[in-house]
Amino acid sequence: MILLGTAAGGGFPQWNCACALCDRARRGELSPRSQECVAVSGNSRDWWLLNASPDIRAQLLTTPALRPGPGPRDTPVRGVLLTDAELDHTLGLTILRGAAGPTVYAAAPVLDALETSMPLRGLLDRYAPWTWQDITPPGSIELAGGLRVGSCPISAKAPKYAAAAPPNDHWVIALRIEDPATGGSLVYAPCLATWPADLDALLTSATCALVDGTFFGAAELGTAVRSPDSDAGQSLMGHVPVAGHGGTLAALARHPRLRRIYTHLNNTNPLLDPASPASALVQQAGVEVLADGSEFTV
Ligand code: MLT
Ligand code: MN
Ligand code: ZN
Repeated sequence: MILLGTAAGGGFPQWNCACALCDRARRGELSPRSQECVAVSGNSRDWWLLNASPDIRAQLLTTPALRPGPGPRDTPVRGVLLTDAELDHTLGLTILRGAAGPTVYAAAPVLDALETSMPLRGLLDRYAPWTWQDITPPGSIELAGGLRVGSCPISAKAPKYAAAAPPNDHWVIALRIEDPATGGSLVYAPCLATWPADLDALLTSATCALVDGTFFGAAELGTAVRSPDSDAGQSLMGHVPVAGHGGTLAALARHPRLRRIYTHLNNTNPLLDPASPASALVQQAGVEVLADGSEFTV
């Protein structure tokens, strides 16, 4: 698999953010990161995107495995699997318009949102017909290239633009992607409002976890942008922090056998600085923060 992008919505640096970390990224002291997106394949020929970031064009251009060909309009990108309907995970679909017949897999409320609150489906289907397929848990599917996909519900957090939509426990899901050829399996959960018990069950049989590392601390956003209002904003965003009692680092410690990686890092997160005490703590716990473009076998 390839980590095409590893930053939360807005990327790193974020265009309108003058926090200390964004400032250091602009000065070239820290590596920039594009918005979170992953590519997976079971055979190195058929590739599937996990979420479609607004940075997908640049991500495809810098990834040799995803180059078009051999025919003039052939692409190895077969489609997209969505974990949620957030803008930073779905707007990339518009960049892929005109692609011949990809399949987009998502849970029911996400498919509904893409038809109503943010009507991308009708819009995209006018460029070239796409297939939109429901993977509401516990549905499981097999992808071209041999990967098997299962899912589990993560949270009922709807995107801000769909706040008026009916509540649904499947707004956010985690994906479990298994490669029967290697026996490896990835659990992908980039949007965790809390750590549900189902996720522990899903990780028990996995070999790699790629999980939400948006915020290191619970009050990080307010501190970085010097606004106490942002503490409430951060918790409303629905991302459980890495550190602390109920944090993801403590939860990941229950799964020492797995390769464990953080992604979807917000531009305020001290893990963006490999020399920070936060980075040292995470590294000591055996959890990784990898650069955009990192490629490995699960
Ligand atoms: C999130 O992950 O909470 C959202 O992507 C926030 C946003 O809209 O950028
Ligand atoms: Mn996001
Ligand atoms: Zn910033």
